[in-house]
Amino acid sequence: MINVALPKGRLGEKVYQLLASAGYPCPELLGDSRQLVFENAQAGVRYFWVKPTDVGVYVERGAADVGVCGRDILLEYEPKVYELRDLRLGICRMCVAGPAGFDDLQRERILRVATKFPHIARAYYEQIGRDIDIIKLHGSIEIAPLLGLSDVIVDIVETGKTLQENHLTVLREIHPISARFICNQVSYQFKYAEISRMRDALGAGKEQA
Ligand code: PRP
Repeated sequence: MINVALPKGRLGEKVYQLLASAGYPCPELLGDSRQLVFENAQAGVRYFWVKPTDVGVYVERGAADVGVCGRDILLEYEPKVYELRDLRLGICRMCVAGPAGFDDLQRERILRVATKFPHIARAYYEQIGRDIDIIKLHGSIEIAPLLGLSDVIVDIVETGKTLQENHLTVLREIHPISARFICNQVSYQFKYAEISRMRDALGAGKEQA
């Protein structure tokens, strides 16, 4: 049995579709129920719906053998897991954004950065030797510069629509992001054959798509 942590939401549903067509179906998973654990004993798979930011925790601690999460989560929380495949889904960019023309390197005062990703933001500005004040938020980050709470934001940009509608623009691209298939380090040894088969199946599903 392979235990799979899927990120609740659109990305998780896409990944489930790939797994289902690759021989790991569990149709109840997409129903309306509030259940969070689903099993198909015959296919040898048990799925959990978890909050996207928690996937790395489940996999690192072995509550799940494998999981799918964005590279943003891996960079922010640095879980000790193996990254087995880039699924090339959920493609976006981690960026610094602010009002057009804003110079985030101007050193007159400490730069105020609003973000859901304090570790990524700190690491980036540390590397270029810029002092920053991190303002940790949990969502709707784009509003922070508008209200004068911060100078810039560090956030995910997919289509760029949210930035545009809040009068912000990309100032720097920090990391390319996509969904990764990750694995618990012990499970990788003990369930090597099953996990490799699942990893290969995910690749095959992608090529067919
Ligand atoms: C993410 C991100 C941006 C938005 C970018 O937010 O934080 O707000 O998507 O997408 P776009 O470039 O296509 O407009 P998410 O939807 O995860 O919501 P949240 O801010 O509540 O976390």
